[in-house]
This record gives sequence, C-alpha cells and structure tokens, in this order.
Amino acid sequence: MERRRFAHVFICLVGAVLMLLLYLDPDWGSEGRDTPARQGPGPYYVAYPGNYTFIMDDTPTCKTTTPFLLLVVPVAPGGVAARDTIRRTWGSEKLVLGQRVETLFILGLPSGADAKQQQEELQQENLQHQDLIQSDFTDGYHNLTIKTMMTLEWLVAHCDKLSYIMKIDADMLLHVQNLVKLLLDPSTAKQNYMTGLVWWHSPVLRNPFNKFYMPRYVIAEPEYPPYPLGMAYVMSLDLPAKILEAAPHIKPIFIEDAYLGMCLQHRGLSPTEAPDSTMFVVDPGHPLSDCSLSRVIAATTTSISQMTGYWERSMGATC
Ligand SMILES: *[C@@H]1O[C@H](CO)[C@@H](O)[C@H](O)[C@H]1NC(C)=O
Ligand SMILES: *[C@@H]1O[C@H](CO)[C@@H](O)[C@H](O)[C@H]1NC(C)=O
Repeated sequence: MERRRFAHVFICLVGAVLMLLLYLDPDWGSEGRDTPARQGPGPYYVAYPGNYTFIMDDTPTCKTTTPFLLLVVPVAPGGVAARDTIRRTWGSEKLVLGQRVETLFILGLPSGADAKQQQEELQQENLQHQDLIQSDFTDGYHNLTIKTMMTLEWLVAHCDKLSYIMKIDADMLLHVQNLVKLLLDPSTAKQNYMTGLVWWHSPVLRNPFNKFYMPRYVIAEPEYPPYPLGMAYVMSLDLPAKILEAAPHIKPIFIEDAYLGMCLQHRGLSPTEAPDSTMFVVDPGHPLSDCSLSRVIAATTTSISQMTGYWERSMGATC
C-alpha cells in the first residue's frame, strides 16, 4: 500500500518536472535549433511561397467588371451555409453610394474522406454563383497565411483597377455603406493604407499551451509589429504587391494577420488607426444597440441568425 502510494507520488513529481522544463524551454528535448526541419513548414510556419495555382477562378470580377471595393471572404470548403448567408445579406449590396462593390470567397482544397464529393459540390455552387476562388493548397486553419497570400497573388494578377479590398471573415457583420463612406472620405489615404482594429503592441505569446504560442527561436522580439486584427481589414490596392515583395524576406508564420504586420514593417509601413473606435468591434460581449449598428463597419457575431438580424437592423439604424 505504502509502496504504491510512493510510486504514485513519484510519477506525479517526474511529470510535473517535465512539464516545467517544457514550459521554461519549449525546445528542450528537440533535436536542436535551426535544423533544416525547423526552416520548412511545421507547427509555426506554413509552406509559402509554394507552387500553388488556382484551380477555380472563373469569376467575372476584375476581368469584365471594375469594382471600387472588393470584399474577399476566406471560408472553409464546407462553409456553404456561411457563404449563402453572406450572399443574402451584406454580400448582396452591389451598388453602394454610387460605388460598385463585389464579394468573392477564397478557399483551398477540401480534405478528408468526402473530399471528392465536397469538390463536386463546390463546382456546382460556383456554376450558380461564380464567386469562388480556389487554390490548390490544403484548406485548414493552420494554412490561413497561405490563403491570405494567395488572395494577394490573385488580386495582383487580376485586379489592377479597383481601389480598395477588404478581407473579412465569414462570421462578421459588415456595414458596407459605412465602409464605402470611410473609403470615399477625402482624408482617407489612397496608397499605403491599411486599417481595421489595429493591435499596436501585441505580445508574442510564450505559453506553449496557447493556440498562438510562438517560441523565441522563431520570433525573438517580445511584440509583433502593429497589424489590424484578421477578422476584417481593408487595404489600398497598392499594398498587395508591396506585401508580396516583402514576403520572401519574412518567414511565413501561421498567424496571418501578424505576418502581414511583419511584411508591412519590412516595407517601412504601418497600419492606420480607424478614425472612430466604434467602427471595428471584436467580441462586444453584449448585443449591439441600434446606435452601435449605425456607426459600425465590421463586428464579430456569434451565430448566423445574429449576423442576419444585425444586418437587417443596420440598414435603417440611427443614433
Ligand atoms: C511548379 O509547378 C510546375 C507545374 O506543375 C512544375 O513544372 C515546376 O517544376 C514546379 N516548381 C517547383 C519549384 O516545384
Ligand atoms: C497546408 O497546405 C499544404 C499544401 O497543400 C499541405 O501540405 C499541408 O498539409 C496543409 N496543412 C494543414 C495543417 O492542413
């Protein structure tokens, strides 16, 4: 009995010491720093640049049309409900304050047992809507940086006449008119312009149990350069090419918005704070009032029905 208890305590103790070592030095036990395996895609980097191409992009957008503003929504291949909701709500607003606005969805390849069927369904969906852009990397949360960079590549290749692009997540409310109003404002820059909810001193997270953990050997600095939060950011059309030029010099970490901040910094650029803190809202923690809805540009939502309800109310909302 005593022996058993002793063994138990001993095992717990060894376990605790191991955890502590791992916490203090997450590289402990790995085959050393900066081995070639560390350079390639792994837990902290994605495979970019890669030899990716577009296997679906027969949209007329930027080919036969010239929008003022293009909204690009990264989505999972299986996210048809989210896409349909956007097509019914803010994605349906095509002429706003006299400006042409279009919406596209960008995705990678489906994976898993039903990948083939998912791909066939995507093709059907695109036949109907012609608003999907698909590249041939494997879709997944960890590959969001690839998705963003492929979006920029597609924009540079096809859209040399539009004025602004916004990347916005599928679970967001977007007040298109307030966004267009901001972009038309004479005080809004037409070049080197990127805005959203800007994080100015975002710490590099060193807790290995955090989803955004980043070890010191990848990023030594305690803070990321400033970047707008990935949920919704807008940029002037000159920036995609500038970011792509910087990208080969910056290791492609999997945190896509922080990565864009690093690319901007490499070009000596910095994002612009939105003129009003009511414009970009993350996790408000309470339902948005009509007054908030009349002033918002983009806000996170918790469900499709909340998003739809907000969008309907935002149309006539006043403060
Ligand atoms: C990229 O893809 C093309 C066409 O599939 C192929 O010919 C080329 O060798 C590839 N390049 C690299 C670096 O993998
Ligand atoms: C990311 O995409 C690459 C290229 O297609 C693929 O090899 C890799 O498995 C993907 N990673 C994840 C986590 O899906």
